[in-house]
Amino acid sequence: MTEKTLSIIKPDGVSRGLIGDVISRFEKNDIRIIAMKMVHLSIEQARGFYAVHSKRPFFDSLTQFMSSGPVVAMILEGDNVIEKNRTLMGATNFKDAAEGTIRRDFATDIEKNIVHGSDAPETAAVEISFFFNELEVCNK
Ligand code: CMP
Repeated sequence: MTEKTLSIIKPDGVSRGLIGDVISRFEKNDIRIIAMKMVHLSIEQARGFYAVHSKRPFFDSLTQFMSSGPVVAMILEGDNVIEKNRTLMGATNFKDAAEGTIRRDFATDIEKNIVHGSDAPETAAVEISFFFNELEVCNK
């Protein structure tokens, strides 16, 4: 089934020059990028994006990190792309991530884990609309 998901290259991925590497993994795996932008989130925007984690002990640190520099947000489209993107990213904790995944190859920390990807169709819809309006999506 064709799906859409939100991908974010986090500030560590951008500052370490990994934008091209991450994007090329998507392209090599038949994932289409149908919207893309670079943004520097404010702390309030980062807190809004990660509101589901607001009670977690890592919330302040995570939102500070996510607003510490620019991120690249993308809408990915493809067959089963939510799961496919999660497989390409690897586990949240890079120590548990499978070989050849983005996080295993590049992450340095459970928080600074290079990429974010939506975990379900419902969260993908909410996260996509956080970053993009309809005019910014190349659906044709
Ligand atoms: P992400 O997939 O963006 O979803 C929530 C983020 O919180 C996660 O990646 C990590 O960056 C961060 N995170 C999750 N668990 C922890 C944790 N135990 N300690 C610190 N950060 C975490």
